[in-house]
Amino acid sequence: MAVGLRRRSPRGAPSSLIEVFRGDPPALELRGLTKRYDDGTLGVERFDLSVPDGAFFGLLGPNGAGKTTLISAVCNLIRITAGEVLVFGEPTSSLRTRRWIGLAEQDINLDRFLTVRETLLYHGGYFGMERADAEGRADEMIDLFELGAKAGVVAPKLSGGQRRRLLLARALMHRPRLIILDEPTAGVDFELRQELWSTIRRLHADGTTILLTTHYLEEAEVLCEEIALIRGGRLIARDSADGLRRHFGADTLQGVYVKAMAG
Ligand SMILES: Nc1ncnc2c1ncn2[C@@H]1O[C@H](COP(=O)(O)OP(=O)(O)OP(=O)(O)O)[C@@H](O)[C@H]1O
Ligand SMILES: [Mg+2]
Repeated sequence: MAVGLRRRSPRGAPSSLIEVFRGDPPALELRGLTKRYDDGTLGVERFDLSVPDGAFFGLLGPNGAGKTTLISAVCNLIRITAGEVLVFGEPTSSLRTRRWIGLAEQDINLDRFLTVRETLLYHGGYFGMERADAEGRADEMIDLFELGAKAGVVAPKLSGGQRRRLLLARALMHRPRLIILDEPTAGVDFELRQELWSTIRRLHADGTTILLTTHYLEEAEVLCEEIALIRGGRLIARDSADGLRRHFGADTLQGVYVKAMAG
């Protein structure tokens, strides 16, 4: 898959390509990101974070910690108060950047009048995919997420798990380089969670950068190479699960979490 090439050094590539590869920018760079909502609530504050291209990165923190705010800033869905957000080295406000990101939001925001297939095709159209390409890709996504039997069904007639799957299929539809999943497995049964894990893992193996939020600590532990702990809109720590355990002197990620959030 072409995206995988981005992670490898371009040995033997023409000099123009080497130019592109040299000093690959991180997938995501936040510098002093601050978001204060209109009512005065602080969503995130002076947040610095760099997520390397190709990483599988987790955001952990309690309800209201600022995870969705951070994601909304990355996707240019909210006006930030201060700081800078770069996606693959470019400002997040550009349309080009928006195309590089695939977002599955925490809230299931599907159009109630569109069928599964139409949802995917409209999304493809929005991101400028050619009709034939969008149709092929939609079929691929429908297969991948086992929505074949529901392809002609409108969103309100889907089960909760099927809606989650469609949300993910839509996020992947335009082949983004950075996939942001805001609690993708909330309210999902054991079997579907395992399936989603293996799908997300495959995407990561192909070179896609994954940014995941979850309240399931074992999910973060099993999937993520690095984890950022967030509390009250601030970054508390960022490391591998092993590194966090060492740093906090805890045996389990649960122990880390309890200590980090109590401090
Ligand atoms: N539109 C808004 N207006 C005012 N405050 C907001 C708005 N959206 C979020 N907030 C506040 O910002 C803070 C961070 O919320 P956010 O949704 O980012 O948390 P979260 O970490 O995603 O939590 P959860 O795990 O519950 O999804 C909370 O105090 C929340 O009430
Ligand atoms: Mg949230």
